[in-house]
Amino acid sequence: MTILFRNIKGLAGVRENSVVLRGQELASLPLINQAWLLVEDDIIAAYGKESDFENGDKMPPEAEEIIDCSGRYMLPAWCDSHTHLVFAASRENEFIDKINGLGYAEIAARGGGILASANKLNEMDEDSLYQLAAVRLKKASLLGTGAMEIKSGYGLTVEGELKMLRVIKRLKQSSPVSIKATFLGAHAIPGNFKDDREGYIRQVIEDMLPTIAEEKLADYIDVFCEQGFFSTEETIRICEAGKQYGLLPKIHANQLHISGGVQAGVALDAVSVDHLESMDAAAIEALAASKTIGTLLPTAAFFLLMPYQPARQLISAGAAIAIATDFNPGSSPSYNMQLVVAMSCIQLRMLPEEAINAATINGAFAMGLGTETGSITVGKLANLLLTKTMPSLHYLPYSFGEQLVDRVWLKGYAVY
Ligand code: NIG
Ligand code: FE
Repeated sequence: MTILFRNIKGLAGVRENSVVLRGQELASLPLINQAWLLVEDDIIAAYGKESDFENGDKMPPEAEEIIDCSGRYMLPAWCDSHTHLVFAASRENEFIDKINGLGYAEIAARGGGILASANKLNEMDEDSLYQLAAVRLKKASLLGTGAMEIKSGYGLTVEGELKMLRVIKRLKQSSPVSIKATFLGAHAIPGNFKDDREGYIRQVIEDMLPTIAEEKLADYIDVFCEQGFFSTEETIRICEAGKQYGLLPKIHANQLHISGGVQAGVALDAVSVDHLESMDAAAIEALAASKTIGTLLPTAAFFLLMPYQPARQLISAGAAIAIATDFNPGSSPSYNMQLVVAMSCIQLRMLPEEAINAATINGAFAMGLGTETGSITVGKLANLLLTKTMPSLHYLPYSFGEQLVDRVWLKGYAVY
């Protein structure tokens, strides 16, 4: 199947070479005004300027379908590099507790939070979990998400964690979204191990990890490095064990407290350290001096009334930044990447170009997909989103709350 897109008002994120963008590089989003783009099967085959065809030297390529994109922008589909898409039930009961003044840690201490999600997930069969997750994934793809990292971490039992990862494996096989799986057995200490954290950590390392590796159920390993959850020493120990099985770390760091999680992630050569609401100069410097990507989750800060991530300081220091939804029932019940881009501009003071780069090419690299997607590059997957008519590209984050993604193609197929 070939599709030729004509008269694209602006084709954004055009790159011959894909590299992680750091510091000031994030502000440059290569754009072709009045562009065309050719898709062949699942791949971006060619692109150029409409003016190429003006004096008759060059003819537009032949294609089975021709789509006129006048007035609209085309971008690489969003790369959402941090989600907890698989869960059994929403938690709007806690939402009311939160409105009434309880904090995230207090809700967790009262039996809510991650442990409440784990109880419900362990009661649900694999098929039902899969059905729920597949519907969410489809809805996210309709909003323009073409690649997604999905974590386990609501099982907290051997069977529960394996069940989640098997659901993610089925999503990988059935969805056009490019998916990476992350093992987050160390998301919380489950209730039956509350007086034996060492016992649970050993279960993660000795019982869960070997089976996960044998069944090739995960690409990455994650730990919630946070007061009341897992210490930096425990984080390092669990991630080192994961690395023995080829799972690189992507960790929850510096969300509620300055935890040392960023430095632990850097020491582990983590692919990414994620959240970063609670940062100090030492954490910013350590991250900026490393290859690890800092993944900012502004909707989680918004939802939990936390301070926003210091994007400007991180960019000034030269760090590599991605942004993602953190979609989960407790701290960010939204899979809307356009909203994440808007919030990154409005609250984190990222420029639209920086936010779009962080949501596409850097997001792709934050889940090991940087050579397959995240930019308009010949040979990359035809994962594309087409906006509604917009006066400029800056309108996309400016007009927050307006759904501006009109159509989406993943691997060359239109998503409906
Ligand atoms: O990324 N912080 C840890 N994990 C999730 C929240 C999980 C939950 O509350 O269910 C997060 O915010
Ligand atoms: Fe998370």
